[in-house]
Amino acid sequence: MGMRTISPLSILPIGVLGLVFGLGACHPSTVQSSAAGSSALTAQVERGKLLYGEHCAKCHGDGGQGSSKAPPVVGKDAFPLQPRPGAKRDVTFRTAADVFAWATEHMPGDAPGTLATDEYLAIFAFDLTANGVKLTGALDGPMAQSIVLHP
Ligand code: HEC
Repeated sequence: MGMRTISPLSILPIGVLGLVFGLGACHPSTVQSSAAGSSALTAQVERGKLLYGEHCAKCHGDGGQGSSKAPPVVGKDAFPLQPRPGAKRDVTFRTAADVFAWATEHMPGDAPGTLATDEYLAIFAFDLTANGVKLTGALDGPMAQSIVLHP
């Protein structure tokens, strides 16, 4: 309550991603936070970046920009409220928890549901951060519920 600073997904599209990837081994200042959970968050985001690279990037692109195989998961076109034309998705993405629930069941596209819950959480902590969402602690279910992508 009131302790989280959450910016709408659409505010910072590609720029933040450039920072996250561009900084590479440097201190990830884009995820800095004054909250006690900041080091847990940093560790989660770093893990999520690796997991994203292993399990998601081949279809969604190294930077989440999408490809001929899959839609973007980073940037202004990521996570539209309504399914894209012709999509298999049949739910709306109102909150980050909606995206999370759908993706943990259906992703990776070639091996649905095969990751552990904490691995999906790490990937989404990374992905939301790349989209400019400021998390103030390690991402969990209630926090995902509180992140409204489409008010
Ligand atoms: C083999 C290719 C492939 C891999 C690997 C893959 N995806 Fe996907 N992903 C897709 C396709 C295709 C869609 C579009 C599904 C549809 O028709 O609704 C999709 C859709 C999504 C969506 C919803 C996007 C939207 O706009 O509706 C999310 C979120 C997502 N994937 C996350 C992930 C995550 C996280 C991983 C890694 C754990 C991952 N995907 C790995 C192919 C893939």
